[in-house]
Amino acid sequence: MKNNIEIKPNIFWIGANDRKKDTWENYWPLPNGMAYNAYVIKDEKIALVECMDKDFYEDYIENIKSITKGQKVDYLVINHVEPDHSGAIKDLIREYPEIQIVGNKKTYKELTQFYGELNNFYEIKDKDIINLGQKSLTFYMTPMLHWPETMMTYLNEDKILFSCDAFGSYGTNNGGIFDDQMNWDYLDVEVQRYYTNIVGKYCANTQNALKKLKDVEISLICPSHGRIWRSHIDEIIAKYDKWSSYNTDKGVVIAYSSMYGHTEQMADIIAHFLVEYGIKNIRIYDVSKVHPSYIINDLFNFKGAIFGSCSYNNGIFPMMGALLEKIENVEIKNHYFGYFANKSWAGGAAKRLSKFQDKMKWQGVETYCDTFGTPESEDIELCRKIAKEMADKLNSDFPE
Ligand code: FEO
Repeated sequence: MKNNIEIKPNIFWIGANDRKKDTWENYWPLPNGMAYNAYVIKDEKIALVECMDKDFYEDYIENIKSITKGQKVDYLVINHVEPDHSGAIKDLIREYPEIQIVGNKKTYKELTQFYGELNNFYEIKDKDIINLGQKSLTFYMTPMLHWPETMMTYLNEDKILFSCDAFGSYGTNNGGIFDDQMNWDYLDVEVQRYYTNIVGKYCANTQNALKKLKDVEISLICPSHGRIWRSHIDEIIAKYDKWSSYNTDKGVVIAYSSMYGHTEQMADIIAHFLVEYGIKNIRIYDVSKVHPSYIINDLFNFKGAIFGSCSYNNGIFPMMGALLEKIENVEIKNHYFGYFANKSWAGGAAKRLSKFQDKMKWQGVETYCDTFGTPESEDIELCRKIAKEMADKLNSDFPE
């Protein structure tokens, strides 16, 4: 299907919408699908920025040909090797055997690991320039944003930053491609979820990239997924700065697992007390129903976290265990933490929650609750204390 738009003279977006995939990286939910963006720069030489997911190669090559009209394609810039950016590379090379594959040393290593030996690799280093004729490309290495080879490409004359995964989004481009072209509010959570899920472990690297690009003048940010930023460039950069510096707001994420409703009851009791103590942002998630993707996202929004779990076979309930493991993996920093548990018959959940707190180095509240079955009045009092100690910390950090 023809799907190309001239975003500036002789610079084209070509893209595909994937509404079939259920998950990203076979893990993160995609309720709104996914968009793959690639770009064609037409000059005396032609450069493609980004290849394409293999399933969408036919559209990709048809779009390229409709733009190049028989002119040979000289360069393919690979900003990132993950297969949504590179999957169709062998097909493209078959079409253009002379094409130069542009990337850094790590790009080459990873490409050969995925696709075998490649001829015509053009190795570039940080801030190297390739001239296309009237236009030129500068390359900025942005390692671990979110893979070792990740880089961005800057079109000097038009001040366009091809930012790879950074500033990207889950969700398809449903009609428009520019941020000011249509109402994207319903996908704003997908922009944040894409950052927190995919890049969120690498906040320090994000900060490094933002510093590196601080003085680069930008007229368009063209990411590999989601909308192109044209009218909200400062805003999206400010959001990335906030998220990657763990600059959270006043609020508490309560995540719980409950088999028979007792642990859920404790979650509700704590939430009621939090409100009494002045906390207005509270999100409660049943981890058996809500994917870690969304819970992790809200941990980038709110400074407080209170987790509760029933015990299961002398350990923590499996879905809560999976959430804790994922949060440990993402290494989210700078939170206040409280926990509550239900022993079922022998306990185990509280021990794991305590270990989680130590591992994350989150500042804990003093009180915790670990009960049997239905919470009694003394358990309710412990829940009140957890809420009070959490609210005190947040009220002190965020005075109103
Ligand atoms: Fe767009 Fe890291 O893949």
